[in-house]
Amino acid sequence: MKIGVIGTGYVGLVTGTCFADSGNDVICVDIDQNKVDRLRKGEVPIYEPGLNRVFERAIREERLVFTTDLESTFRETEMIFLCLPTPPGANGQADLSFVLNVADELGDLFNKFPGYRVIINKSTVPVGTADRVRERIATKTKAEFDVVSNPEFLREGAAVEDFMKPERVVVGTGSKRAAELMTALYEPFVRSGNPIIIMDERSSELTKYAANAMLATKITFMNEIANICEKVGADVDDVRRGIGTDSRIGQRFLFAGIGYGGSCFPKDVQAIHHTAGEYGYDFKILDSVMKVNESQKVSIVKKIKDFYNGDLDGKTFGVWGLSFKPETDDIREAPSLYITREIAALGAKMKAYDPEAMDTFKQAVTDDVLKAVEFMDDRDSVIEGVDALIICTEWNEFRRPDMSRFAKVMNAPVIFDGRNLYDLDRVADAGVTYFSVGRPSVNA
Ligand SMILES: NC(=O)c1ccc[n+]([C@@H]2O[C@H](COP(=O)([O-])OP(=O)(O)OC[C@H]3O[C@@H](n4cnc5c(N)ncnc54)[C@H](O)[C@@H]3O)[C@@H](O)[C@H]2O)c1
Repeated sequence: MKIGVIGTGYVGLVTGTCFADSGNDVICVDIDQNKVDRLRKGEVPIYEPGLNRVFERAIREERLVFTTDLESTFRETEMIFLCLPTPPGANGQADLSFVLNVADELGDLFNKFPGYRVIINKSTVPVGTADRVRERIATKTKAEFDVVSNPEFLREGAAVEDFMKPERVVVGTGSKRAAELMTALYEPFVRSGNPIIIMDERSSELTKYAANAMLATKITFMNEIANICEKVGADVDDVRRGIGTDSRIGQRFLFAGIGYGGSCFPKDVQAIHHTAGEYGYDFKILDSVMKVNESQKVSIVKKIKDFYNGDLDGKTFGVWGLSFKPETDDIREAPSLYITREIAALGAKMKAYDPEAMDTFKQAVTDDVLKAVEFMDDRDSVIEGVDALIICTEWNEFRRPDMSRFAKVMNAPVIFDGRNLYDLDRVADAGVTYFSVGRPSVNA
């Protein structure tokens, strides 16, 4: 099939590359000239495990090309995916301007190059957006087309694997013709029997928000349990094992920490909460989810302030991990942004290391933070001569450090661990003063 992908960010690039890998001819279009130039040179501008290999193969076999020209993309393709940003607007609602502006452009292009096409929305968008896109196009053209909702469930850090072997594909459309084309396109990805679930557009749009809101709620619930554990002297890891073995609850998304971040959960929880409000429904549980998530990242800074009686001036902290989760360079809504800003504002310095996210972090923070942070080349040099270590992201390389080094090379072996990486007995044996989330502190 001939496929167009509009927007070549985390979702668009993975979508375009994986469709090309399964034998389709794909044109990816983006307004960011610099990004398109890099892609044309064969450079993948994001860190996503496994993407380089599939990308190089698709380029080599000439099935994947990049352009800034929407018109030629439209002319050459029959199924056009919208992978555009839907950032939070002023009141938490999804900002649909990127999607609707492109819909207007597509309406004009249908007049120039008529012929049936399917416009597929992969961006996460509020209920009713497929109708709005359809209306915007239809006001400009009499051409034949369908608008389909096809939410994306990939996880950054495992995006290629998730796209290649999705647990399910959700397709929202009332059109038999569009449903058949979508099924044919996705069949190679679900050969092991995972379902392609066809439903109406509104249910499909809501499915994406329901999934993210449910996952954010699960994480937040465990963070609240962790907060209670700290008060009553229980260990959240034991509680997690105790409940996760119940198949009705399941093992995943039960790890306590300093809150969820990233480009999806925070904005999607806000957006569905806002949509509910627009329809006169007060989505109370999500109110709490948002509040608790905010307070989680604050709580680690509070622990730090309490330990030093509020006086951080002249101290130096090591920071391990900046990305919002491991295996990505994405720092959107990462707890590290808040934590480093607070530590800098309190007059302390930092030495930081992240395997992939140092460049994206540098681009996202203010000069005040940049002045306070020295970026290091590796994990071990971060801890040399620092007064304490803060762990923001659970990259694998932080999981098994040589525990004896903490006492040897730090000014004082103190760790504030936002991701509960270490066994309490091991840190106790290593003489480390250790604060984590929902577990007893050690040597405090
Ligand atoms: N990142 C994820 O893990 C993830 C997962 C599932 C769904 N989503 C959803 O997918 C959508 C895209 O997310 P993302 O993380 O890929 O965003 P992104 O910001 O990484 O990428 C968006 C791209 O669109 C481009 N763009 C903007 N306006 C354009 C236009 N008029 N024409 C062509 N290109 C244009 C931007 O330059 C950018 O490259 C969002 O709605 C998001 O909520 C994201």
